[in-house]
Amino acid sequence: MSKPLAEELIKEVEKRRTFAIISHPDAGKTTLTEKLLLFGGAIREAGSVKARKASRHATSDWMEIEKQRGISVTSSVMQFDYSGHRINILDTPGHQDFSEDTYRTLTAADSAVMLIDVAKGVEAQTIKLFQVCSKRGIPIFTFINKLDREGQSPFDLMEELERVLGIRSVPMNWPIGMGRELCGVYDRIKNQVELFKGNDHSTIEVRKVEDYRDPIIREMAGDFLADQLINELELLDVAGDPFDLDKIASGELTPIFFGSAVNNFGVQTFLENFLELAPQPTSRVSTAGPIEPTSEKFTGYVFKIQANMNPAHRDRIAFLRIVSGRFDRGMSVRHVRAGKDIKLSQPQQFLAQDRDIIESAYPGDIIGLFDPGIFRIGDSLAQGGEVIFDELPTFSPELFAKVTVKNALKHKQYQKGIDQLTEEGTIQVFRTTSFDDTILGVVGQLQFEVFEYRMRVEYGVEIQLQRMPYQFARWIVDEKIDPSKYRINSVLVKDKKDNYVALFENEYAMRTAIDKNPTSKFLEMAP
Ligand code: G4P
Repeated sequence: MSKPLAEELIKEVEKRRTFAIISHPDAGKTTLTEKLLLFGGAIREAGSVKARKASRHATSDWMEIEKQRGISVTSSVMQFDYSGHRINILDTPGHQDFSEDTYRTLTAADSAVMLIDVAKGVEAQTIKLFQVCSKRGIPIFTFINKLDREGQSPFDLMEELERVLGIRSVPMNWPIGMGRELCGVYDRIKNQVELFKGNDHSTIEVRKVEDYRDPIIREMAGDFLADQLINELELLDVAGDPFDLDKIASGELTPIFFGSAVNNFGVQTFLENFLELAPQPTSRVSTAGPIEPTSEKFTGYVFKIQANMNPAHRDRIAFLRIVSGRFDRGMSVRHVRAGKDIKLSQPQQFLAQDRDIIESAYPGDIIGLFDPGIFRIGDSLAQGGEVIFDELPTFSPELFAKVTVKNALKHKQYQKGIDQLTEEGTIQVFRTTSFDDTILGVVGQLQFEVFEYRMRVEYGVEIQLQRMPYQFARWIVDEKIDPSKYRINSVLVKDKKDNYVALFENEYAMRTAIDKNPTSKFLEMAP
């Protein structure tokens, strides 16, 4: 074993934190991301990420559809340094551009930051993204945002996290007042208060205190808020969950931080605590057993493919999560599925929109590989070996449409387009068992639009999509399946691997089928 490389890897891995921010649109993800990048000096001006969000269509040369809608179809990656750490933030898009890509991106993260609006609480999209993270058992850190506005009480929010998401929480800090009354937060770990000053809450004063009963707090916040703080924290001390790092690491307990991203309040403390508690890059499961990040041989897997980032070149970028070893530009690696060696010559790293060529990268980093059409989602790359990482999960689609080709003469291109776009993970394809109709399944409406657009532009095929009323898909595992049981408000189809899948119009139809078929297993994801 070459000692210098082993030591270098330990050092680089320890430094790294790779995470995704999950939230519902408008909770403040862009604002928080921007503040984090500002701390790291990765951007100089507040407003640049926001400006990017607003004007992506103006400056981006990415997909045409993105320009038309003024949104981003991509989940990009942002990297910055802060107090000795190298941080990779995986951007998960919201709004209508929510798609299976969003879910897959989460498989590349080692932890997640769940951002919640203090007034709105746990919202629909947060629930979906949380569940994907929770299934992987990764640590989840909660930031309750917009404390400068009136919102729900911290206890109600904790109760909501448990009721809706099934996760217990441990507040790391506690607000002193809220909305217009907000005057600061009490840090339960460091026993200090961060106090807001000025009408616009623009100055922050940090004072060390004995505990939450310290008269300094009374002096600064007044009797009412000081008494409230004492009452609430006494209750929390007695009835709340204790801080437990093992439970946090396994995703059973989420540390909560209160703050206000736009006012930059509580953000720095959050970042510092997060960096201390969040895991460094973790191992990934493969056919050769778990691959540790410090293992010297370079390995990684493709979790996302972005087509046509530059239409002039018709290029595709494969996003690779490095699992182990050091990546060096120009290195030769085994493309395991294709069974051949390839040279990684033009790797790119992403900060906001700039794509820089990189020379080397380490476990936890995400690199973009120029893809002349050789990669598929889930592909493993390995130096001198046959390591295959676990297949990326297929997520349960919620929107369905029957697809037909308008011009029958184009059937060959149509089939090619469907095959390639399924492989890329743009859509999932099912066939009905009765008429061999083709049904597309997606998790976000945008996937249909992207599919239609790319079929037309890249394959020259006009298609027709007819929305179907199904809302749930369940993979059925059973020795003997009786198709006659799937006729009312449901249909039986097969996926591309010939697994049986039942599509249901509503929850009632699904419940009934589950009750009537006690020998069948109904899975949310492909087996
Ligand atoms: P997103 O990426 O999650 O969709 O949210 P984004 O950061 O764009 O924030 C959504 C809105 O919430 C923005 O307001 C933003 O300024 C506001 N916001 C973010 N953090 C806070 C906070 O701590 N307190 C308050 N009061 N508001 C916050 P907007 O009106 O849509 O945009 P803008 O006019 O402020 O730019």
